[in-house]
Amino acid sequence: MEENVIPHNFSITQKERSALKNHDALLIWFTGLSGSGKSTIANALEKELSSKNIHTYLLDGDNVRKGLNNNLSFSPEDRSENIRRIAEVSNLMIDAGLLVIASFVSPYREDRENVKRIVGYKNFVEIFVNTPIGECERRDVKGLYAKARAGEIENFTGVNAPYEAPMAPDVEVDTTVVSVEEAVSVILTEIGERIENQ
Ligand code: PPS
Repeated sequence: MEENVIPHNFSITQKERSALKNHDALLIWFTGLSGSGKSTIANALEKELSSKNIHTYLLDGDNVRKGLNNNLSFSPEDRSENIRRIAEVSNLMIDAGLLVIASFVSPYREDRENVKRIVGYKNFVEIFVNTPIGECERRDVKGLYAKARAGEIENFTGVNAPYEAPMAPDVEVDTTVVSVEEAVSVILTEIGERIENQ
Protein backbone atom coordinates (compact mmCIF):
# COMPACT_ATOMS: atom_id res chain seq x y z
CA MET A 1 0.00 0.00 0.00
CA GLU A 2 2.73 2.41 1.03
CA GLU A 3 4.23 2.57 -2.48
CA ASN A 4 0.99 4.21 -3.66
CA VAL A 5 1.33 7.02 -1.14
CA ILE A 6 3.12 9.95 -2.77
CA PRO A 7 3.86 12.93 -0.50
CA HIS A 8 2.91 16.39 -1.75
CA ASN A 9 5.65 19.03 -1.90
CA PHE A 10 4.26 21.95 0.09
CA SER A 11 5.65 25.44 -0.41
CA ILE A 12 6.63 26.42 3.12
CA THR A 13 9.70 24.56 4.39
CA GLN A 14 10.82 23.68 7.91
CA LYS A 15 13.58 26.29 7.61
CA GLU A 16 11.03 28.98 6.77
CA ARG A 17 8.83 28.00 9.72
CA SER A 18 11.86 28.04 12.02
CA ALA A 19 12.87 31.46 10.71
CA LEU A 20 9.61 32.84 12.15
CA LYS A 21 10.91 31.94 15.61
CA ASN A 22 13.95 33.07 17.56
CA HIS A 23 15.29 29.53 17.93
CA ASP A 24 15.86 26.27 16.09
CA ALA A 25 13.70 23.16 16.52
CA LEU A 26 14.98 20.29 18.65
CA LEU A 27 13.83 17.17 20.50
CA ILE A 28 15.02 16.85 24.09
CA TRP A 29 14.41 13.24 25.08
CA PHE A 30 14.31 12.24 28.77
CA THR A 31 14.74 8.55 29.56
CA GLY A 32 14.87 6.85 32.96
CA LEU A 33 12.97 4.73 35.44
CA SER A 34 9.51 5.55 36.69
CA GLY A 35 9.92 7.96 39.60
CA SER A 36 13.44 8.99 38.56
CA GLY A 37 12.43 12.65 38.20
CA LYS A 38 12.09 12.88 34.39
CA SER A 39 8.77 14.74 34.40
CA THR A 40 9.78 17.09 37.20
CA ILE A 41 12.96 18.16 35.39
CA ALA A 42 11.16 18.30 32.02
CA ASN A 43 8.49 20.56 33.53
CA ALA A 44 11.08 22.90 35.10
CA LEU A 45 13.01 22.97 31.81
CA GLU A 46 9.89 23.88 29.85
CA LYS A 47 9.11 26.72 32.27
CA GLU A 48 12.65 28.07 31.91
CA LEU A 49 12.60 27.84 28.09
CA SER A 50 9.15 29.45 27.88
CA SER A 51 10.39 32.36 29.98
CA LYS A 52 13.07 32.84 27.29
CA ASN A 53 10.35 33.01 24.60
CA ILE A 54 11.20 29.58 23.24
CA HIS A 55 8.16 27.82 21.80
CA THR A 56 7.99 24.40 23.46
CA TYR A 57 5.69 21.41 23.72
CA LEU A 58 6.01 18.72 26.39
CA LEU A 59 5.03 15.13 25.63
CA ASP A 60 4.84 12.92 28.73
CA GLY A 61 4.29 9.17 29.27
CA ASP A 62 1.15 9.27 31.39
CA ASN A 63 -0.50 11.97 29.24
CA VAL A 64 0.21 10.40 25.85
CA ARG A 65 -0.89 7.00 27.13
CA LYS A 66 -4.27 8.47 28.14
CA GLY A 67 -4.90 9.70 24.58
CA LEU A 68 -3.00 8.94 21.38
CA ASN A 69 -1.55 5.68 22.74
CA ASN A 70 -4.41 4.49 24.95
CA ASN A 71 -4.54 1.18 23.08
CA LEU A 72 -0.97 0.21 24.05
CA SER A 73 0.22 -1.96 26.95
CA PHE A 74 3.67 -2.21 28.51
CA SER A 75 4.73 -5.31 26.56
CA PRO A 76 8.06 -4.85 24.70
CA GLU A 77 6.19 -4.66 21.34
CA ASP A 78 3.70 -2.05 22.56
CA ARG A 79 6.43 0.02 24.19
CA SER A 80 8.25 0.08 20.82
CA GLU A 81 5.06 1.23 19.10
CA ASN A 82 4.50 3.82 21.86
CA ILE A 83 7.97 5.27 21.30
CA ARG A 84 7.69 5.09 17.49
CA ARG A 85 4.43 7.07 17.48
CA ILE A 86 5.89 9.64 19.87
CA ALA A 87 8.92 9.98 17.59
CA GLU A 88 6.65 10.59 14.59
CA VAL A 89 4.63 13.18 16.54
CA SER A 90 7.88 14.84 17.65
CA ASN A 91 9.03 14.87 14.04
CA LEU A 92 5.89 16.75 12.99
CA MET A 93 6.41 19.23 15.83
CA ILE A 94 10.04 19.74 14.78
CA ASP A 95 8.75 20.36 11.26
CA ALA A 96 6.48 23.00 12.78
CA GLY A 97 9.55 24.63 14.37
CA LEU A 98 8.97 23.70 18.02
CA LEU A 99 11.37 22.70 20.74
CA VAL A 100 9.89 19.38 21.84
CA ILE A 101 10.50 17.93 25.29
CA ALA A 102 9.66 14.24 25.61
CA SER A 103 9.64 12.34 28.90
CA PHE A 104 9.26 8.57 28.57
CA VAL A 105 10.71 5.56 30.37
CA SER A 106 11.76 4.33 26.89
CA PRO A 107 13.68 1.40 28.37
CA TYR A 108 14.93 -0.17 25.12
CA ARG A 109 18.08 1.12 23.43
CA GLU A 110 16.84 0.08 20.00
CA ASP A 111 13.62 2.10 20.43
CA ARG A 112 15.61 5.21 21.37
CA GLU A 113 17.88 4.64 18.34
CA ASN A 114 14.74 4.53 16.23
CA VAL A 115 13.67 7.92 17.59
CA LYS A 116 17.03 9.36 16.47
CA ARG A 117 16.57 7.85 13.01
CA ILE A 118 13.04 9.29 12.70
CA VAL A 119 13.78 12.85 13.84
CA GLY A 120 17.38 13.00 12.58
CA TYR A 121 20.49 12.73 14.76
CA LYS A 122 21.17 16.48 14.68
CA ASN A 123 17.73 17.20 16.14
CA PHE A 124 18.04 14.81 19.09
CA VAL A 125 19.39 15.39 22.60
CA GLU A 126 19.32 12.49 25.06
CA ILE A 127 18.98 13.15 28.79
CA PHE A 128 19.48 10.12 31.02
CA VAL A 129 17.87 10.62 34.42
CA ASN A 130 19.95 8.04 36.25
CA THR A 131 18.40 8.03 39.70
CA PRO A 132 19.12 4.69 41.42
CA ILE A 133 16.18 2.31 41.53
CA GLY A 134 16.37 2.17 45.34
CA GLU A 135 15.59 5.88 45.47
CA CYS A 136 12.81 5.66 42.82
CA GLU A 137 11.26 2.86 44.84
CA ARG A 138 11.65 4.76 48.12
CA ARG A 139 9.79 7.74 46.58
CA ASP A 140 7.14 5.56 44.95
CA VAL A 141 4.98 8.63 44.33
CA LYS A 142 2.31 6.66 42.46
CA GLY A 143 2.52 3.48 44.55
CA LEU A 144 3.44 1.49 41.42
CA TYR A 145 6.65 -0.11 42.78
CA ALA A 146 4.71 -1.49 45.76
CA LYS A 147 2.09 -2.91 43.38
CA ALA A 148 4.78 -4.37 41.10
CA ARG A 149 6.59 -6.01 44.08
CA ALA A 150 3.24 -7.44 45.15
CA GLY A 151 2.92 -9.02 41.71
CA GLU A 152 0.02 -6.78 40.71
CA ILE A 153 1.74 -5.17 37.67
CA GLU A 154 3.30 -7.12 34.83
CA ASN A 155 6.36 -5.80 32.98
CA PHE A 156 7.16 -3.07 35.46
CA THR A 157 10.47 -1.49 34.45
CA GLY A 158 13.24 -2.15 36.97
CA VAL A 159 11.21 -4.80 38.82
CA ASN A 160 10.12 -7.40 36.29
CA ALA A 161 11.07 -5.72 33.00
CA PRO A 162 14.50 -4.45 31.88
CA TYR A 163 15.89 -0.94 31.58
CA GLU A 164 18.75 -0.58 29.08
CA ALA A 165 20.79 2.47 30.09
CA PRO A 166 22.05 4.81 27.33
CA MET A 167 25.71 4.21 26.39
CA ALA A 168 26.53 7.84 25.59
CA PRO A 169 23.78 10.24 26.67
CA ASP A 170 24.31 13.95 26.01
CA VAL A 171 23.51 14.67 29.65
CA GLU A 172 23.27 12.33 32.65
CA VAL A 173 21.78 13.43 35.96
CA ASP A 174 21.17 11.62 39.22
CA THR A 175 18.54 13.44 41.25
CA THR A 176 20.04 12.15 44.51
CA VAL A 177 23.13 14.23 43.67
CA VAL A 178 21.83 17.29 41.75
CA SER A 179 18.81 19.52 42.34
CA VAL A 180 16.13 20.12 39.70
CA GLU A 181 17.54 23.64 39.14
CA GLU A 182 21.06 22.26 38.63
CA ALA A 183 19.79 19.63 36.20
CA VAL A 184 17.96 22.31 34.18
CA SER A 185 21.06 24.47 34.12
CA VAL A 186 23.25 21.62 32.78
CA ILE A 187 20.68 20.86 30.07
CA LEU A 188 20.41 24.52 29.06
CA THR A 189 24.19 24.67 28.69
CA GLU A 190 24.09 21.52 26.51
CA ILE A 191 21.37 22.79 24.17
CA GLY A 192 22.40 26.46 24.14
CA GLU A 193 24.20 26.62 20.80
CA ARG A 194 22.00 24.00 19.19
CA ILE A 195 18.86 26.13 19.32
CA GLU A 196 20.42 29.37 18.11
CA ASN A 197 18.87 30.22 14.74
CA GLN A 198 21.50 29.80 12.00
S1 PPS B 1 7.43 3.35 27.98
O1 PPS B 1 8.19 2.26 28.59
O2 PPS B 1 8.32 4.39 27.47
O3 PPS B 1 6.51 2.86 26.94
O4 PPS B 1 6.56 3.97 29.18
P1 PPS B 1 5.86 5.41 29.23
O5 PPS B 1 4.99 5.61 28.04
O6 PPS B 1 6.89 6.45 29.51
O7 PPS B 1 4.90 5.28 30.48
C1 PPS B 1 5.45 5.20 31.75
C2 PPS B 1 4.44 5.63 32.83
O8 PPS B 1 3.41 4.67 32.92
C3 PPS B 1 3.23 4.23 34.28
N1 PPS B 1 3.38 2.76 34.24
C4 PPS B 1 4.50 2.04 34.01
N2 PPS B 1 5.81 2.35 33.83
C5 PPS B 1 6.68 1.34 33.59
N3 PPS B 1 6.34 0.02 33.53
C6 PPS B 1 5.03 -0.33 33.69
N4 PPS B 1 4.68 -1.62 33.60
C7 PPS B 1 4.07 0.69 33.95
N5 PPS B 1 2.72 0.67 34.16
C8 PPS B 1 2.33 1.94 34.34
C9 PPS B 1 4.21 5.00 35.14
O9 PPS B 1 3.43 5.93 35.85
C10 PPS B 1 5.14 5.71 34.17
O10 PPS B 1 5.25 7.10 34.46
P2 PPS B 1 6.59 7.77 35.02
O11 PPS B 1 6.32 9.25 34.83
O12 PPS B 1 7.76 7.31 34.23
O13 PPS B 1 6.63 7.38 36.46
